[in-house]
Amino acid sequence: MSDQQHHDGLSRRGFIKGVGGGIVGAASLTAIKPARAVEKYGDVVGPDNVDVTLKVNGKSHRLNIDPRITLLDALRDKLDYTGTKRACNRGECGSCTVLLDGKTVLACSMLALDADGADVETIEGLANGEQLHPVQQAFVENDALQCGFCTPGFIISGVALLRENPSPSMNEIKYAVSGNLCRCGTYPHVFKAIDDAAKAMKKGG
Ligand code: FES
Ligand code: FES
Repeated sequence: MSDQQHHDGLSRRGFIKGVGGGIVGAASLTAIKPARAVEKYGDVVGPDNVDVTLKVNGKSHRLNIDPRITLLDALRDKLDYTGTKRACNRGECGSCTVLLDGKTVLACSMLALDADGADVETIEGLANGEQLHPVQQAFVENDALQCGFCTPGFIISGVALLRENPSPSMNEIKYAVSGNLCRCGTYPHVFKAIDDAAKAMKKGG
């Protein structure tokens, strides 16, 4: 492996394991009616802070938060899981995709309260130490990213697909990531990476 290849490999591995900066969200002061939290907190929550337990990648975090903040704000700004990206912040691009009890959700478009007690999985939870998840590894090998901002969301969507359907067709792969947008236009490489990951996982990779 050349120095350049080695450098590229390390930097991409590091990126794909989850990096990024934080942005603080803002909202007007108002009472809200969260869906999942109704049983725990009652019909109306706020404006005072509430206690929430977020279980992220198997680790429980007890937070006392403004009930208006989104799951994305809590992950990035309260818990420093900055691998989950904020792009549109309005449910359109899929960059903030995480798994909630195994299902893909847009973290920018749900309240942290509604994740209380659920299992949240983010890009940071996929690698096993230095060993990337097969979908992450396939993204590296296929150069399936340019700026990389959309990449964690695509990878999470790919992981969710392969857990439910280990042998997806190309159309099923495209459908599974159809909620994820890439303004750099990496789609062909993304589709190939998920297809390669499926094959590697079947071989036990
Ligand atoms: Fe959540 Fe774009 S940042 S969908
Ligand atoms: Fe840049 Fe997808 S790699 S937005």
